[in-house]
Amino acid sequence: MARYETAPWAGPKVCAMTTPVLQILIASTRPGRVGPSVAAWIHERALAHGGFTVELIDLAEVNLPMYDEPKHPRLQDYTHQHTKDWSATISRADAFIFVIPEYNYGFNAAIKNAIDYLNHEWKYKPVGLASYGGVGAGTRAAQMLKQVLTTLRMVPLFEAVSIPFVQQFLDADRRLQPNEIMETAATAMLDELVRTSVALRALREPAERGHPAVAGTNS
Ligand SMILES: Cc1cc2nc3c(=O)[nH]c(=O)nc-3n(C[C@H](O)[C@H](O)[C@H](O)COP(=O)(O)O)c2cc1C
Repeated sequence: MARYETAPWAGPKVCAMTTPVLQILIASTRPGRVGPSVAAWIHERALAHGGFTVELIDLAEVNLPMYDEPKHPRLQDYTHQHTKDWSATISRADAFIFVIPEYNYGFNAAIKNAIDYLNHEWKYKPVGLASYGGVGAGTRAAQMLKQVLTTLRMVPLFEAVSIPFVQQFLDADRRLQPNEIMETAATAMLDELVRTSVALRALREPAERGHPAVAGTNS
């Protein structure tokens, strides 16, 4: 929870602020997937970066069924325990990195399903996209996903990690061995996630701030 010395819209006079929570989401769920290898590297870099409290979330473990809530998620009137649990998880986050594969020139079904379950929980949170695939490095999936993310008022970053022919970067233990371009991109993405997540806090906590221009927009 942020503590402000003065009205924050008057200037960034923040006197004490908790470290942002960064959730790294592994989007792919199939047996034999590459997703955990990419996410393990990103996770290491996020911990080393030091700007976040970091959580690693695997959609294969979350194991959401195909979307099965009767009411629109905007209402947050959830029927199923799996949705309540998912809502509590995502509510904790200030920022995300989605580790996404490219399937058929688009994003995979599991990430879209997990996103569709919720609404307000995603709002005004920045997302860095770490995509991977073949020749396109997952960038078609990333671009396609941005359209979904902005509908939920998420803020997808320009800074991204894009890994072409991802298999070439896996060693015999299936650990990802990044090149310099990937390392530089990961650092840039993490830096921008800190800046953006702190800036967006003002929009995520309108009740605390009480600013008339944003009051009620986060309910
Ligand atoms: C169903 C399916 C569709 C795919 N389509 C594409 C594609 O359109 N473009 C691409 O670059 N790679 C494509 N691939 C290759 C994947 O990007 C690659 O296998 C990657 O490792 C998948 O991520 P995962 O191992 O975490 O599931 C596809 C793979 C699968 C399983």
